[in-house]
Amino acid sequence: MEDFYIIFVYLSLSLQVKKYLKPFLLSQEKLQEISARLKKNMIQGLGKHTHHKAPVKMLPTFVRATPDGTEKGDFLALDLGGTNFRVLYVRVMEEEQKVLKMDSQICAIPQDIMRGTGEQLFDHIAACLADFLDSQNLKGQTLPLGFTFSFPCEQIEIDKSILIHWTKGFSCSEVEGKDVVKLLRDAIHRRADYDIGSVAMVNDTVGTMMSCGYKDQSCEIGMIIGTGTNACYMEEMKNVKRVEGEDGRMCINTEWGGFGDDGSLEDIQTQFDVVVDKTSINPGIHIFEKMISGMYLGEIVRLLLVKLTEDKLLFKGKTSEALLTPGRFETRFISEIEEQDRGLKNCQNILTELGLKWDSVDVRLVRLVCDTVSIRSAHLCAAALATIVNRIRENRGLDYLKTTVGVDGTVYRKHPNFSDKLQAMVHRLAPNCSITFLVSEDGSGKGAAMVTAVAHLVLLTLNCKLTQDQSM
Ligand code: BGC
Repeated sequence: MEDFYIIFVYLSLSLQVKKYLKPFLLSQEKLQEISARLKKNMIQGLGKHTHHKAPVKMLPTFVRATPDGTEKGDFLALDLGGTNFRVLYVRVMEEEQKVLKMDSQICAIPQDIMRGTGEQLFDHIAACLADFLDSQNLKGQTLPLGFTFSFPCEQIEIDKSILIHWTKGFSCSEVEGKDVVKLLRDAIHRRADYDIGSVAMVNDTVGTMMSCGYKDQSCEIGMIIGTGTNACYMEEMKNVKRVEGEDGRMCINTEWGGFGDDGSLEDIQTQFDVVVDKTSINPGIHIFEKMISGMYLGEIVRLLLVKLTEDKLLFKGKTSEALLTPGRFETRFISEIEEQDRGLKNCQNILTELGLKWDSVDVRLVRLVCDTVSIRSAHLCAAALATIVNRIRENRGLDYLKTTVGVDGTVYRKHPNFSDKLQAMVHRLAPNCSITFLVSEDGSGKGAAMVTAVAHLVLLTLNCKLTQDQSM
């Protein structure tokens, strides 16, 4: 009897809650339309005279080959892209087609360094690298180094890479517009107690594609859905108008997170997305990313819960201090709440922790909110990925494309049904493509080493120059 009553109350309240959630539901037709917009933006980003203003930057990476399994050697890899910085010592072994992580070390990047000066950031990185080299007895060697730097960079050469702007909560001064490799080398030279060899700069998407490509040579797309979101893919050189040469392919870092920065996604941005953007440290930048990635999903849910409570549809109209605090509803809560078996129990614990007085209807409604926000994220990623696979298929004049995507990122890995939702929707939006999804094993670390290995073996054409119309 009681269950029946709960279901009845839930159904009637959820009808009202669904009115708030409606703007988050994107039909297949809408997603197709979004995909068509992204395609236009991608072409704009590749154009010699149009890329300056393009919100989707389509950055040439100078990676012209995916691994062919013959790479080998010892490398250092640095990985900066979130709240932690990692140093790795990696061995690429030809015989076993394996990338072995010999050892690694994690250093936290405290908030004050994330938002301090560039010099402080790179001194911190150089100190962390020094500690690691000491612990491995490697200070006397000058190993080639792969630097996974997961922010939008204009790559001038494999070892010259200019930060366009920070994303994901970083805002160190004096780095935007500068060569990140030089800032790293300068910091190491300031210490003068060790040196590094050749450097290959890599975006995490490229690292992911390369590390998966070592196992599966048809991997030609790398995708990240974690703190931030982005993808890279192998584009025909003849379409990369900013780089000289017509032959072969080059990996393009799309920086799809910037989609919408020209206002082109206003029709699907909800009032909650607008607040998330406005209150972020980089308003107007990475609008698409702010609807999708782990740095923002929790906050979107929190804002929805606050609104529903204010409108007396949740918690009998009573919020809590925690719920009213930006950032307190973490994205990992969404994954925990959506777990198949323990989801409702997890939700109860989370709401209690947030100081809320809930009943079983509230718990179900909160789960409905989480579902809606995460499905929209998965569907937007699907639309973007479909744009890429459809483009690769058309580029090659194929009726049917079989390809592999290397994927990484906490949202994709940890959310209980994100990957299923994403894959099902890509399938519908790109019906003439069969896609294998390969979750990368530490793409940022091992992938950086792969790129360094490939670069080192001169599979990269280091002498290809940007055409004169450079943006920076
Ligand atoms: C950055 C990308 C990166 C992505 C995933 C975004 O914020 O702009 O360069 O690949 O996050 O880490």
